[in-house]
Amino acid sequence: MNAPVIIAIAIAAAVVLGAVSFITLARRSDVRGAGALSSETRRRDDVARSARAAAPETASEVDPPVAPRSAAEAEKTGELARYGSAVEPAPEPALVPFRPPDPEALGVSRRQFFNRATVTLTGTSILAFSAASMVAFLWPFGTGGFGSKVPIGKLSDIRSGITGGDGFFYVPQARTWVTEYPADAVAAAETVYDEALLPGMRRGIVALYQKCPHLGCRVPECASSQWFECGCHGSQYNRVGEKKAGPAPRGMDRFPVEISASDEVTVDTGIVIQGPEIGVNTTGQEAEGPHCVSGGEH
Ligand code: FES
Repeated sequence: MNAPVIIAIAIAAAVVLGAVSFITLARRSDVRGAGALSSETRRRDDVARSARAAAPETASEVDPPVAPRSAAEAEKTGELARYGSAVEPAPEPALVPFRPPDPEALGVSRRQFFNRATVTLTGTSILAFSAASMVAFLWPFGTGGFGSKVPIGKLSDIRSGITGGDGFFYVPQARTWVTEYPADAVAAAETVYDEALLPGMRRGIVALYQKCPHLGCRVPECASSQWFECGCHGSQYNRVGEKKAGPAPRGMDRFPVEISASDEVTVDTGIVIQGPEIGVNTTGQEAEGPHCVSGGEH
């Protein structure tokens, strides 16, 4: 059986079904159309009609009008008709005098419970917070994260990193720039810088805090000028973080550097040493190319 035959059969079946449905609905509407009454209804109508026909026709045969009654009388008559006797009102229940509950037996009220729970929880939270703060304040700094001594690798690797970074080596975990400190500037540095900084400088490196001493932006390096140049307000510093221009109040802050006997380098980020004052220029390094930011002529 191919598709056209199946479709033709389906259409024929649909037509037949539609016709049967239409005829059925039409017949039902003919039998029970709008306004058609059921046989039960018609039978009750007939009974009512017969009763009306047997009812007295004249005014004298009609029962005299019933005198208006009070609501209580009407209610009593209704009760008599329904139950055969008047319904007696239920007796008033005897009132039991109120006796306040014994506080000892009662324990705490809900309000007392919540008040005490609130006070207890608040007090516990304050105590826990104070204890945690105290422990955090007194506990010795751990190692490895910013705010502590951060090992940054072997000195030779750091030198390679500085060379590979075009003069700048960034250590994110210490938030530090490490740059080369020229050997011929150490003598000048010894007259200016904190003693804690000199061991690193004598070994040829300086660790500079990335945070601009002006308003705290992260200071990026500028490969073309070989300076640090802050994009926020244009402060500029030479490669060892001495201020050259801009609104910053001093040179870049820095960290002490420790170098072990095996040349392992550690930056102590727990100690921030303020940058040198304006005018310090131990290396004499001028810009070696175009600046990355402008407007730092303060
Ligand atoms: S934050 Fe660097 S110049 Fe203002």
